[in-house]
Amino acid sequence: MTEPEDRLVNPANKTEDQQIEPSLRPQSLAELIGQEKIKENLQILIDAARHRGEPLDHVLFYGPPGLGKTTMAHILANEMGVNIKVTAGPAIERQGDLAAILSNLREGDVLFIDEIHRLGRAVEEVLYPAMEDFALDIVIGKGPAARSVRLKLPHFSVIGATTRLALVTAPLRARFGAVYRMHFYSQKAMEQIVARAADQFAVDAEQDGIREIARRARGTPRVALRLLRRVRDFAQVRAGGHITADVADHALDLMDVDALGLDDMDRRVLRAIIEKYNCGPVGLNTIAASVHEEQDTIKDVVEPYLLQLGFLERTSQGRMATRTACEHLGLPYPDHLPPRLF
Ligand SMILES: Nc1ncnc2c1ncn2[C@@H]1O[C@H](COP(=O)(O)OP(=O)(O)O)[C@@H](O)[C@H]1O
Ligand SMILES: [Mg+2]
Repeated sequence: MTEPEDRLVNPANKTEDQQIEPSLRPQSLAELIGQEKIKENLQILIDAARHRGEPLDHVLFYGPPGLGKTTMAHILANEMGVNIKVTAGPAIERQGDLAAILSNLREGDVLFIDEIHRLGRAVEEVLYPAMEDFALDIVIGKGPAARSVRLKLPHFSVIGATTRLALVTAPLRARFGAVYRMHFYSQKAMEQIVARAADQFAVDAEQDGIREIARRARGTPRVALRLLRRVRDFAQVRAGGHITADVADHALDLMDVDALGLDDMDRRVLRAIIEKYNCGPVGLNTIAASVHEEQDTIKDVVEPYLLQLGFLERTSQGRMATRTACEHLGLPYPDHLPPRLF
């Protein structure tokens, strides 16, 4: 079994990426490639806030890992010229932790909460009045003598990020003035991202080599940057440091990343659905059990891209593999699918 951490195409963050990424992060909206619609909306949000001399509205980004949610948060803070305080849902364990963070914010600051769907309920309740009224309610004393005191907070902006919008509670979601879905990047945008990174790494790469890496990076900048590093290693050792389409092709084949960017785990998931369950429908928990992976990993990392490719369909009965998925894997598409009950 492959640990998700070992997957080359796993867009979830890795330590190696974390060390390298900050220097690669685009610093302004203008520098950010792709996500045109979101950029346009954000520019309006920024201009309007600046015009009124107010802090930015609370913004929530959602979408699969590695598409630029964290990057967007930093860019927003940069563009507003304010400080950003970075935290994550699981890191805020108690109400007091959040109270401490909130009371240290300054006027206009951005509070970035990654994995915001993993905030505890009790913690969330502290966040509601903070986001809505810039107020912190604290309880002083215990038992019958306890009383609640309301402290004023500076006007700040929460930027939330999540891979699972469905797990963000309705009251929390309602407190965000803007909610944006991050999409997988087009081939053209991916090529620009790889070219830009190759430039920054000072990697010697031909346009065709760049195109090949971009094509296999599942529309995800983080994956593209990781593939580029591995191809660069390969090129250094085997090809005098020069990346051509052929070199990229060889390196990626060696890493078991196929022409569409699928790796071993994607293929195992598809194969399980196709071969064991006759293309489905089959429940996610059954799939997870049969490939020995966590449901969460499949849902966050494997599924979104397979859905995007049209290799997978989500129905009320479970997941179904499509004819194109069978064709890609060279497996027969079952002639007699069980009747669909919807
Ligand atoms: N539009 C983009 N253009 C260039 N690089 C990008 C873009 N979006 C993301 N990246 C790069 O991809 C990596 C992952 O982005 P990140 O913001 O951490 O994703 P997320 O928070 O959604 O998981 C970072 O190194 C970032 O610099
Ligand atoms: Mg992130």
